Formats: sequence, structure tokens, C-alpha cells
Amino acid sequence: MRIHTIIGVGLSALALASCNNAAPVEEEAASSPALTELPVSINATMVGLIDNSADFIWTVGNGDLPKDEMDWDLVRSATYDMILGGQVMKVPGSGEYDAQWTAEENWQEWADQLTLIGQDALPLAEAQSTDVEAWRAIGDRLIENCEGCHNAFKPELPSEGILHRSTERESRGISMFD
Ligand code: HEC
Repeated sequence: MRIHTIIGVGLSALALASCNNAAPVEEEAASSPALTELPVSINATMVGLIDNSADFIWTVGNGDLPKDEMDWDLVRSATYDMILGGQVMKVPGSGEYDAQWTAEENWQEWADQLTLIGQDALPLAEAQSTDVEAWRAIGDRLIENCEGCHNAFKPELPSEGILHRSTERESRGISMFD
């Protein structure tokens, strides 16, 4: 849905641009639905998409196992969020420094790595694997990824002031799936 919205925005921008131009550009627009700008900041992407979902991967690695099909759906969705989120954050959004960050090769590499970690986690989620060690290995790679990119790029305080509220349940050792 999100992706469709973004593509939709891109197409209407191109359609608007075509008003000044007599040549029919609709076909051109349809063949190049490139994602060039996010409708939100990278900060918001982090807090709203990445951070929340990563918790559902880490918690399984901590032995907090899903209890039913719906819990597994949450875990599987979280792996898709890593796969897709990695690609989303390669594109600048509305944040002040987004364009600067995404222009760095290093940034693009960290983002691709997040996608790869998600791809490695997906088969575990689909198999509803209770191999806690395997989940922990994924979780460890995930932490390295977040920290690696944050060490390189993240300002001390988020540029837009959107802050992470630590998951209370996790910090108190309460299951994410109750
Ligand atoms: C490609 C680089 C990159 C990766 C990978 C990355 N982040 Fe971020 N993250 C950032 C940057 C840069 C900011 C600061 C954005 C701003 O302030 O505008 C940020 C901000 C955040 C924030 C909000 C600010 C805060 O201080 O709490 C959270 C939460 C967050 N990231 C969590 C994560 C988690 C969890 C992961 C890994 C699963 C992750 N990030 C992976 C670059 C990255």
C-alpha cells in the first residue's frame, strides 16, 4: 500500500510536469515509476517501520516465542519490514539531512545489508522456526547493522526529534505476544 502510494505520488508529479509540455509523456511516466523521494523523513521511517519491527525479531532470539499463527504473522511481517525497509531507506525523505546521508556509498551498503538480513530471516519465519540460536544469530547481525550505520551517520539527537521509546514489555521481560 505504502509503495503504491509513493509510486502514485511520483506519477502525478510527472503528470503535472507534463502540463508545460505538449509531448505526451504518460507512457514515459508509466515505464519509469522510480522511487525518488519518501513521503516521510528517514527519522520517521526508523521509528515507525524499522525499530518497531526489529523488536519482533530480537524478542524471538531472546527465547520469547510466538504463541499462535497471528504472532508468527507479526514476526514474518517484521522480516519483510527489514527486507523492504532497507531499500526504502536508500531513498531520501523529508528530513533535513536525508539527501546528504543517502548520497553516501557507505549508507547504501548498510541499507542493502539490512535487506539481506531480512532475507535470511524470512525462511525462519515462514518455517515458524523455534531454533532460538538461529534467531539470535539474525538478531546479532541486526544489532551490528543498526549500530554500524548509527555510529557512522546518526546525530546524537534525532534531527526531527522523533525519539525511540524503548519497548516497555521487552525491558521488563514481558512477552511481546501476550
Ligand atoms: C543506513 C543507515 C541506518 C541503518 C541501517 C539503521 N539506521 Fe536507525 N537511524 C539512522 C539515522 C541517520 C538516524 C537519525 C535520523 C535523523 O535524526 O533524522 C536513525 C534514527 C533511528 C531512530 C530514531 C532516533 C533515536 O535516537 O531513537 C531509531 C529508533 C532507529 N534509528 C533504530 C534503528 C534500528 C533498530 C535499526 C536496525 C534494525 C536501524 N535504526 C538501522 C540510520 C540508520
